[in-house]
Amino acid sequence: MDTILHPIKHFLHCATPQSWVDEAVKPANLPTLLNDHLVCELKAAQSAMFLIRRYAVDATSAKALLEWLAPYEKFTYRQEGNWQDLPKCKLNKSMMAKSDSPYSQNLIDKMVLLIKEELHHFYQVLEMMDIYAIEYTNISSSRYAKGLLTHCKTHEPDALIDKLICGAYIEARSCERFAKIAPHLDPKLGEFYTSLLRSEARHYQDYLTLATDIAQKDIAPRIAFFGEREAELISTHDSDFKFHSGVPCAAINSAEQSLKAASF
Ligand SMILES: [Fe+2]
Ligand SMILES: [Fe+2]
Repeated sequence: MDTILHPIKHFLHCATPQSWVDEAVKPANLPTLLNDHLVCELKAAQSAMFLIRRYAVDATSAKALLEWLAPYEKFTYRQEGNWQDLPKCKLNKSMMAKSDSPYSQNLIDKMVLLIKEELHHFYQVLEMMDIYAIEYTNISSSRYAKGLLTHCKTHEPDALIDKLICGAYIEARSCERFAKIAPHLDPKLGEFYTSLLRSEARHYQDYLTLATDIAQKDIAPRIAFFGEREAELISTHDSDFKFHSGVPCAAINSAEQSLKAASF
């Protein structure tokens, strides 16, 4: 486990605050944690799909990709269908025609595997929710992903490179948080979270490799820039508790109170 986490801890500019871990392991927060985690898995698949549809495939393949995701989106956003009936993936990499962009095959190869894995995780989270008798409810997303993506450039290829770097940070943080909370959760859920570490660590690495390959220039300053933004979102006060949220309000309040008490 250490060999998986070491590069991730090095990549992230700050560790998850203990106050977030304390909040995340409270049984009362389990429904929020799992519901939000579920939607994060779908969003991870959607973002990867957006990247290949936008940058790497022709219109026919783009349509096939959308159809692949549609039952998952209908279930999540419109609560249509049974989760047990969600289809297994029928797509493979060769189904997709390449556009003339030089990096399309590389993008397709990595992202198709990633989408398959995220949709599998999505299904696994639903299995966990079933075990713990947690009903699915659509909850609002946290500030985290938006807070990162808002800094992406709007012109190409910089926009793509920025989105890939954001993808790397989101995957790396997820991996770090799974590892942090796994030992404190019910063993079955803890085991599941530990089982996710390997694939999320690979996703982080794939995003980073793609960004570096496509850029063909030194992107270290850009990576550092997003690392700082990411650390701000994680280490600042956040009134909303979610999988990727910042320092919980209650923790800020008690820290402020002890500071005040200490100053008297
Ligand atoms: Fe995942
Ligand atoms: Fe992932």
